[in-house]
This record gives sequence, structure tokens and C-alpha cells, in this order.
Amino acid sequence: MTVFPIDEWKGRETPFYYYDLDLLRQTVEEIKRCAQEPNWHVHYAVKACATEPVLKTIIGAGLGTDCVSGGEVRASLEAGAKPEQILFAGVAKADWEIRLALENEIAALNVESVEELENIERIAGEMNKVAHVCLRINPNVDAHTHKKITTGLNINKFGIQMKDMMPTIEKCMTMPHIAFEGLHFHIGSQITDFAPYRNLCMQVNKLVEQIEAAGIVVKNIDVGGGLGVSYDHPNHFCIPDFEGYFRTFRKFLKLREDQELHFELGRAVVAQCGSLITRVLYVKHTEQKEFVMVDAGMTDLIRPALYDAYHKVENLTAKREGRKERMRYDVVGPICESSDVFVENFELPLTHRGDIIALRSAGAYGEIMASQYNLRRLPGHVVSE
Ligand code: LLP
Repeated sequence: MTVFPIDEWKGRETPFYYYDLDLLRQTVEEIKRCAQEPNWHVHYAVKACATEPVLKTIIGAGLGTDCVSGGEVRASLEAGAKPEQILFAGVAKADWEIRLALENEIAALNVESVEELENIERIAGEMNKVAHVCLRINPNVDAHTHKKITTGLNINKFGIQMKDMMPTIEKCMTMPHIAFEGLHFHIGSQITDFAPYRNLCMQVNKLVEQIEAAGIVVKNIDVGGGLGVSYDHPNHFCIPDFEGYFRTFRKFLKLREDQELHFELGRAVVAQCGSLITRVLYVKHTEQKEFVMVDAGMTDLIRPALYDAYHKVENLTAKREGRKERMRYDVVGPICESSDVFVENFELPLTHRGDIIALRSAGAYGEIMASQYNLRRLPGHVVSE
């Protein structure tokens, strides 16, 4: 559980992200404990948070990375990842990104269309290299999550449709600069029920069987990420249920001894170790509502505005002072948009100007999605000692 060093923040400008690196280390150790199989590899999905000390902690503990841009490949290398631990997915890769991946000889590119495959073959040819590729297959599995973070249905833009899988693999076989390594899947994010993963395993088993029946070896299987976290109870469930998650794959995925299995977890690794720390500017009273107006807005944490996401709000000053009286507030930011609301009608201790507020579970898709809309400064970060 994160203990906030609120006294150390006196006079520090808000808003900023605070990362509890102890909790992060414990989380990564738990992942390693639960995924202890010789042919299993966990790659951290850098898109969730690329803040340098966070990334270095994760890579330093031995996890590989999963990248979706050339920028993330570079950040992984700079933070100490070994090229052979880096995967590069991404729905449409630019030529310079493909070159960067090939120059650095990363483990594999996950390819999302025949058109992209042809472009990789051309670039690898020019560079006189062989590109190791996995094909991202859209398995048409419903992740039962928010529609904006579902990716594995055949109406989504991601991956190669199952009916096109065999012709695309056969095409790989004819390409001199492509080495077909296996299959990649990712069905969505913030998945809190393991049934979609069981369905994914069933689909993967079927597809691998189909390919191997054609005499083609599937060396690598990448099942993506997506494990969810508890936004309601960040203190009770500060480490997600990795045991249950990995058990599902152990139980339902048919893996040969010479096959490698890859996971790409983002949110579950970093969400609970990060909070957005903000200060109350004003408590505004109207006939209908009490507004707590904080100095962080949707530019610092866009998830509530974009996905109706909930982040638990804690008044750290009131907690420290032991204020007993409680009230219902809308906690809103200073951006000129009516969607700049963190929570509505939310019970907090009596709140005053100057109080320090934490928006919890914001380590994933928080700081990394910040923008400068309204010409605001980016939030920046502080890490625990
Ligand atoms: N692998 C691939 C191919 C992905 O597209 C993603 C996330 C991941 C792995 C990691 O998924 P995770 O374990 O973090 O669920 N901005 C949204 C989430 C978008 C997720 C995009 N893809 C949010 O704030 O909820």
C-alpha cells in the first residue's frame, strides 16, 4: 500500500505524478514468481507508462518490453532492455520505425496486415537483413471491457482476420527477407474476468493446430496483455491477481516444450503504483452542487473524460488531519471543457482550498497520455526514494 510523503511536497508545484517504486518492485516480483516457466517471457507494454525511473525499474528487474512505436523501441534500449527482449507491435509501422527495429535486431515485429508485411520485406531486402515476424491475428474474442479499449473483435482495425491467416503465412514462406516466427494476439484492456482469456486460449490452440497441420512450425505465441486492476480498491488490491491470470494460460493453452509463450502486460504492472497529485484551488458552491476545483485537469489524466473511467479520489490533507465531517462533491479540473470532470457526487471529507488530493491508480495511461491542450505545462513526476 502506498504511503504518501505529503510533508515532502510542501511548496512543490502541482499537479505531478507520484510513483511508488517499492510497490512497483513488489508487483514485478509477483509477476516473475507467477510466470516462472522456462519458455515464458513477460514483456512490459511501454505504452502504459514510459517515465524513465519506472521503465528502468521494470527492465532492471528483467522484464522485456512490448513497443508500439519507434519512440518506445528507443526508450526501451536507452533504459537498458536487450534487443532480444524487445517486441514491436503497432497497427501501422512507418518505414523509419521498421528500419530502427531491423538495425537494432530486436526479437520480432508483430505484423498487422499483408500490406505491412510487403513493406517490411522490401525494407529488410534493402538492408540485407531478415525480419523476424509474428502475425497478429484478430481472434474475434470479446474481452467484455469498455468499447474503446476492445481490440480483438473482427470489427476492430487490429490484426489479420482469421480467414486470411493461412494465405498470409504462406506468403511469408515465399519472402526471402521474412522469417515467420509465430502468432500474436491481444483482445483488449482492463479485463477483470478470466473467461475471455480461456476463450482466447481455445482459439489459439485451434489456429496453431491448423498451421502445424500444414507443416509450418509455430515457434512463438504471444497472447498480448489486458489484465485489469481494481480502480475501486487500490489499497486492498494493490497487486493484481497475476496468479489467476497466468494459471488460465497454464491450464488452457496447449504449449509444446519447444514453443515460447509471450505476455505483454501494461496496466497491471504500473497502474497501482502511480497517483496524480493535485491541489484544491477553490471549493465552489452553487445551488445544485459543491465543486472541488483542482489544479489537475483532463490534460493531465484524460481517462475519465475519454472512457468514463473512475479513479478513486483521496484528500490526503484531510486524512492526515483526521477530519471527520464528510460531504458530496464534484471534483473537476480547470480546463475549458465540460468533460473535464474526475468524479461526480463523490463523498470526501470536508475539503478546503490548498488541500492535497490524490487521484489513485493513475500509473498506467496517465502521465503518458498527458497533453498540453490549453497550453498547459506537462505534469511531470516524483518517485519514491
Ligand atoms: N499489447 C498490445 C498489442 C496492446 O495494444 C496493448 C494495449 C497492450 C499489449 C497492453 O495492454 P494492457 O495490459 O495495458 O491492458 N489507454 C487505454 C488503454 C489502451 C490499451 C491499448 N493497448 C486506457 O487508458 O484504458
